[in-house]
Parts: sequence; C-alpha cells; structure tokens
Amino acid sequence: MTQYKRPTVSIIGAGNVGEHVANILAIKELANVKLFDIPRKTEDKTFEFVKGKALDIKQMATSLGSDVEVEGYVVSPDGEGYEPLENSDIVVITAGFPRRPGMSRDDLLSKNVGIIKILSERIKKFAPNSIVIVVSNPVDVLTYAAFKLTGFPKNRVIGMAGVLDTARFKSFLSMEVGVSVRNINAYVLGGHGDDMVPVLSASNIAGVPLNKVIPEDRLNEIVERTKFGGGEIVNYMGTSAYHAPGSSTAYMIEAILKDKKEIMPSSVYLEGEDGDYYKADDVYVGVPVKLGKEGVEEIIKLELNEEEWKLWEKSVNSVKNGIDRIKELGLI
Ligand code: NAI
Ligand code: 2OP
Repeated sequence: MTQYKRPTVSIIGAGNVGEHVANILAIKELANVKLFDIPRKTEDKTFEFVKGKALDIKQMATSLGSDVEVEGYVVSPDGEGYEPLENSDIVVITAGFPRRPGMSRDDLLSKNVGIIKILSERIKKFAPNSIVIVVSNPVDVLTYAAFKLTGFPKNRVIGMAGVLDTARFKSFLSMEVGVSVRNINAYVLGGHGDDMVPVLSASNIAGVPLNKVIPEDRLNEIVERTKFGGGEIVNYMGTSAYHAPGSSTAYMIEAILKDKKEIMPSSVYLEGEDGDYYKADDVYVGVPVKLGKEGVEEIIKLELNEEEWKLWEKSVNSVKNGIDRIKELGLI
C-alpha cells in the first residue's frame, strides 16, 4: 500500500474568512493547514495572533478526533516569511483591507492589488505548482491580477464567489418553499457585485421551474435579496460575512483535493472559444466550471435567455471596468 500523504492548504490572511476556511478543512480532516498573517499591534503590544489561531484550530481538531496539522506563520507586509508555502497543494488568498472611511475605491484597489502583487511573487517562488484560490475583494479583479502576476496557467488561478452567491440564493429559495436545499438546483453567475446574475432559466426545485412554484413578485424579491446578500449581513454585523464565505471556499478545495469533477460557479479566465460563447474576453468572471485535481478542468456553456444575456453583459462590463482601472493605475 502506498503511504497516505495528506495534502497541504496554505491560507494567507487568517482573519474572519481565512480562519473559517481553516476550521472546515480541519473539522473535515481534508488537509494540513498553514496560516499566514501579519502581526497585530495594539498601543503597547504586538501580537503574533496567527500562531494563537493555528494552535486553537489544532486543538479544536484534536477535540473532534481530527489528526490534521495546523501551523501559523507570522509574515511581514512586504513579503518576508513565506518560505513555508513550499509544498502547498492549494494556496488561498484571504488577505486584504476592507474599505475604510475616507478611502476611495481606487485607494482600496491599490492597497489590495499591492498585497496581491507581493503574494503572487511569493506563491510563484515557493509554491510554483499550487492551485491558487482568491477570495479577497474585489474578487474578480484581484483574481485577474493574481493570474497575470503569478503567470500560472488559467486552470490554476480561480476566484471564489459563485458558490457563495449560489448558496445565498438556494438558502432563500429553500426558506421560501420549505424544501430541502438538496432539492434546489440554482446558479448565480457573473461578477461578485450588485450586477451578479441569478440564472432563473437554469434554476429549479427538483426539476420544476422556479416560476411554477414561486409567484413572480416574490421571485424578484428573492433575486434582489441574493444580489445584496453580502450587504444585508454587513448591515447586521458591521463587518462582512465569513461563515458562508469560509465554507464555500472549503467546498471548492474539497472538489479539487478529491478530484471530484464537480460543477460549481467560480470566477475563471475567459478567452478563446469559451470567451466567444460568453461574449467576454480577457476577463475573470463567474461561470459554471468543473473542478478537479487540475483546478478548472472545463468551462460549462450554460444557455441563458435573452434577458439573462443582457444582465450577464452588464455584469461582465462592471468587472472589465475594474480590470481596466487597475491597468490605468499601473497596478499590474
Ligand atoms: P479580515 O480583515 O477579518 O481578514 C483579513 C486578514 O488579512 C487580516 O487578518 C489581516 O491581518 C490580513 N492581512 C492584511 N494585510 C496582509 C498582508 N499584507 N499579508 C498578509 N495578511 C494580511 O477580513 P475577512 O472578513 O476575513 O475578509 C477577507 C477578504 O475576503 C476581504 O477582502 C473581503 O472583502 C473578502 N471576502 C470575499 C468574499 C467573496 O465572496 N469573494 C466573501 C467574504 C469576504
Ligand atoms: C460577501 O459577499 C463581502 O464579498 C463579501 O459577503
């Protein structure tokens, strides 16, 4: 029998989302986890909090009988300390800044692209064969930046958003009709923003089209609630969601590590034949893809109706504008 080697997933940015990705990987005993983050400073003390989080997650795993290794590594904002990325099968990027008062969108873009730039160089150097999953926002634009800056093939650089947006849509549909989430088939495609596209024509409840089960006005409300699902949580919590973003990222990781060939929406690079079909070229945006050990193994060409194509084009253009902006600002 060949010796079992548990895969390694590195997570850069052990904040709310990062630690929840780590939790699920540890609980499900899917991978050894390496967490990377910068020190946290208070007025009179500097905390190596990432080491504490790693220990806490390791001990949680132990309490559940899970044997994964969990390590925390302190890194510097200018990119020191990333050597332990070596041998990572997957690297998740959840590092970044939220928008703060007084900060323009361009300020936020330049700060977060700056982080992606450093991380891409380090990932390329220390984990050149890894698959990269970007979570940090604006996710489609930052995934594009990571793709260009690592120089990795497109199948190995993926953005997480569609699994989360679809989970939100499915939650609301299930709450509406009182049916198990397992009976709901749904897709949310496009960019991870206000223009995302819940694809009603490809969504159904146990095969029955949504409009046969839910009145049109309620369905429209559910679609709107889905599009602003992230904002709804920010309004309640004063910070963005992390349980569902963490589990959605872990779901993608599981599909890759177990070579499941499972189809789920993800932000991927569109060009060539796929780009022609989706009327989108040189852009990262959410479409259904087959995830397996190679990362993105196939892009699925979903049929949209006329109205959905219009919404789709609007969403692609929003992401394109963000990509054009980081090019104009000379950030990539
Ligand atoms: P957070 O603020 O709790 O965590 C971010 C972490 O990044 C912090 O621990 C911070 O110290 C770390 N960090 C900052 N600069 C760093 C650097 N230069 N090197 C290494 N680590 C660094 O934020 P949260 O809630 O975990 O969100 C993380 C990102 O994920 C945000 O950009 C957020 O908008 C995004 N997000 C994306 C979602 C999606 O669907 N794609 C869903 C939810 C969040
Ligand atoms: C979310 O959708 C803010 O992207 C984050 O929850």
